[in-house]
Amino acid sequence: MASERLGMAALTWMALCLAAAFAVDRSNFKTCEQSSFCKRQRSVKPGSSPYRALLESLQLSQDSMKLQLVNEVNKVPLLLELYGLQGNMTRIKINELSPLRPRYEVPDVLVRDPPTTWLAVMGRDENSVELSLGDSGHKLILTGKPFRMDLLQGRELVLSINPRGLLHFEHLRHRKDSEEPKESALEGGAAGEETEPAVPGEQESSEKSTKSEEVSDEPDRAEEELGSWEETFKTHTDSKPNGPTSVGLDFSLPGFEHVYGIPEHADNLRLRTTEGGDPYRLYNLDVFQYELYNPMALYGSVPLLLAHNTQRTLGIFWLNAAETWVDISSNTAGKTLFGKMLDYMQGGGETPQTDVRWMSESGIIDVFLLLGPAPTDVFRQYTALTGTQALPPLFAVAYHQSRWNYNDEEDVAAVDDGFDTNDIPYDVIWLDIEHTDGKRYFTWDPNKFPQPRNMLGRLAAKRRKMVSIVDPHIKVDSGYRVHNEIRSRGFYVKTKDGSDYEGWCWPGSSGYPDFTNPEMRAWWASMFSYDQYEASMENLYIWNDMNEPSVFNGPEVTMYKDALHQGGWEHRDLHNLYGFYVQMATAQGLEQRSGGLERPFVLSRAFFAGSQRYGAVWTGDNAAEWDHMKISIPMCLSLALTGISFCGADVGGFFKSPDAELLVRWYQVGAYQPFYRTHAHLDTVRREPWLFGEENKALIRAAIRQRYALLPYWYTTFYHSYRSGQPVMRPLWVEYPDDVTTFSIDDQFLIGNALLVHPVTEQGAHGVQVYLPGKGQVWYDVHSHQKHHAPQTLYVPVILSSIPVYQRGGSIVPRKERVRRSSDCMYRDPYTLYVALSPQGTAEGELFIDDGHTYNFESKAQYLHRHFSFASNTLTARSADSKGIFESPAWIERVVILGAGKPAAVFLRQPGMAETRLDFQHEPETSVLTLRKPGVNIGADWSISLR
Ligand code: NOJ
Repeated sequence: MASERLGMAALTWMALCLAAAFAVDRSNFKTCEQSSFCKRQRSVKPGSSPYRALLESLQLSQDSMKLQLVNEVNKVPLLLELYGLQGNMTRIKINELSPLRPRYEVPDVLVRDPPTTWLAVMGRDENSVELSLGDSGHKLILTGKPFRMDLLQGRELVLSINPRGLLHFEHLRHRKDSEEPKESALEGGAAGEETEPAVPGEQESSEKSTKSEEVSDEPDRAEEELGSWEETFKTHTDSKPNGPTSVGLDFSLPGFEHVYGIPEHADNLRLRTTEGGDPYRLYNLDVFQYELYNPMALYGSVPLLLAHNTQRTLGIFWLNAAETWVDISSNTAGKTLFGKMLDYMQGGGETPQTDVRWMSESGIIDVFLLLGPAPTDVFRQYTALTGTQALPPLFAVAYHQSRWNYNDEEDVAAVDDGFDTNDIPYDVIWLDIEHTDGKRYFTWDPNKFPQPRNMLGRLAAKRRKMVSIVDPHIKVDSGYRVHNEIRSRGFYVKTKDGSDYEGWCWPGSSGYPDFTNPEMRAWWASMFSYDQYEASMENLYIWNDMNEPSVFNGPEVTMYKDALHQGGWEHRDLHNLYGFYVQMATAQGLEQRSGGLERPFVLSRAFFAGSQRYGAVWTGDNAAEWDHMKISIPMCLSLALTGISFCGADVGGFFKSPDAELLVRWYQVGAYQPFYRTHAHLDTVRREPWLFGEENKALIRAAIRQRYALLPYWYTTFYHSYRSGQPVMRPLWVEYPDDVTTFSIDDQFLIGNALLVHPVTEQGAHGVQVYLPGKGQVWYDVHSHQKHHAPQTLYVPVILSSIPVYQRGGSIVPRKERVRRSSDCMYRDPYTLYVALSPQGTAEGELFIDDGHTYNFESKAQYLHRHFSFASNTLTARSADSKGIFESPAWIERVVILGAGKPAAVFLRQPGMAETRLDFQHEPETSVLTLRKPGVNIGADWSISLR
């Protein structure tokens, strides 16, 4: 029975969870009302801001402006810093002018110090200053009293900062009932001793005390009433040694009705207003049986919000890793389209506007305004700050087979063989926690996995991989080397009293390594070397789960906020970064074990801004329900908008068992999402693709094969994402930014700019309504090759085999159509180019090829980046990037031209060679022209003309 295998920890967790009906137990998680800082922040109502900017304190350097703000009620001075950044961005920082201790500033997320541009004062009067922000054409008007900032382009107001007066900065203070400031438990006491003071060199302690004497205690009392120095939730008490430390600020976005981003929430793509409910919450949590369509926090957080209208896209990146809540309100929410039209016709309607309010528990205000103006610009801006999606090894973009658990080596071998017997390609088989020796990561269960090397070798012989799970909770067991080393090196997160923090997770009592400590990360990375991780081999990759971190007996199933990290920082300050660091350290480990040659693959459940640099994420413990399958689309789209392209959901659903229809449909959805993995809970019935009868097996096989055929296109799109920061999976509005119809669509999406997918997500569906965007454009059904004019909403009848996918007229998509065992087996296989003609008879596309797994494409320019274009009846292949040089054995076996007339003859020309005639076939009903065997190497330059 499962009980023996699971052990006590899992049992307690499961008993707790299974007792409830199948829905999240909301009482385990805080509402804003129960989160004292959120409640305090929200109790500040719109009105005149108590803050005044001291215009006389303004200091301007070439690239920044500094100025003091003062809260007129409590007199606490703040320092405002403003930077014009290159590439149409602005950074605003607000900190205390002289905090009692340094406040946390998020490290390691920005890839570098963002390059600045010049700032200049263009004008001023007694209550305002006008600044010009570099060459961007933007200017900022700063108003002294009440403090606000308005950002304009020309005469157009783009956004306002603090327009509703909601700036609320809780300064560090001494507790009123104690003489001495509370000291941190770590030696030396002060948090972040190693960090520079926020205003370098400015504050002497005498100055500090003078400043704090000036401070009025009036508002502090109110704060103390509201759980500022101690907060209890359920049975857990947060000791809050630093008292109230939260920060909040509001922004107005005139002209914007559509806002997106701030994952992770199980909700639609377009964010809704939060008036009358809870704000969207960003606090990485292990939420058991999460519910859909609500703003509750989930496993990961990216504090980036995007706003879009027909004229402009912009982003607000709130760089804060503490618990954060985001309120959204709008003056058009609830108005019908008719109401809005009436307003417009009567000329009396207000400009639509969205207001956004950010509230974080600690840290500073550090916000980047990404001023677009196009969606592509915002992606470029955000990824210039936080990095682009790492280019995955090719196998990672193929299909993954997982379940909790593949029980033993025989089971792994049988499943692996099953794919061959049933002629279904797959690349990776996964091992969940039961493969370890008693949930001790980096070990193997000696009975079930006695010969892991043989198992890995067997897979390698079939050119397949394995992923094993390595979670960041470490069994407290003096017989376990990993634990002993972490403990003796002092690498565990500490309690507020300075002892090693212990929580309850899969192994029972567990320690949590302090991944914020670079030394700890270096040690962790070294654990993945082949001599440290027993039996590990080149084809073993890693899965980091439970890294929110999940603590079964902790407050909200996570770590105490007063636990302490390196430098004395409280867990409170950096909670949302923990999972980011776990994945970072693991990816570094995989990189290092190959001497820096091989690209890692690491899947993580928790994430933060910048996690895209370290691998893939998935949407956690979903359920075998139609709505869960459906929500995977907006969930991954929201992540894609915020830099994290490599996203997927458990195909089939984690909890519960899908029926055949749902499973087939989910395979079809997953085939067109970036990370394609089936996974299931321990207690679900087995669901390998061949267990549902011949017909369903054939449907699943067909979906997986579609994925494999398109791998060249996926990989090229990932390469593009890596280079330029553009998302792999895209909402329609990203490519059709002035088509309002697309703004709320999240049941269909684009892959790159060429493929539009509208998977079937309704049970028993007979048809779907597909919106084809683009005035004057055409789209081709990739299966029937039928041409459709756009824009239009097309009713598409469907049967169980249907996956509605369309190729944009004007695009060229490379495919590999021979069926193999795994992606690696396709390496030498020839390509087919699908040329979909625009109404003008043109098309363009690209192909990226390298060895599929090393960094040689970067370090040695060993790659091919090909460009294909069709115009004037000629298809031309040339290099898109002459720096890349790579010998590929692959060639072109076919060119399929959609929307073509019948030529009299077709000629292939290669430099320095005589023209040759090509065989072709034309189907008049579908206008498909197939050119047979051009036979040219994929790296060669050539042209084919239709005459
Ligand atoms: C929780 C993860 O979300 C799930 O995918 C995994 O199977 C279990 N932990 C066990 O490791």
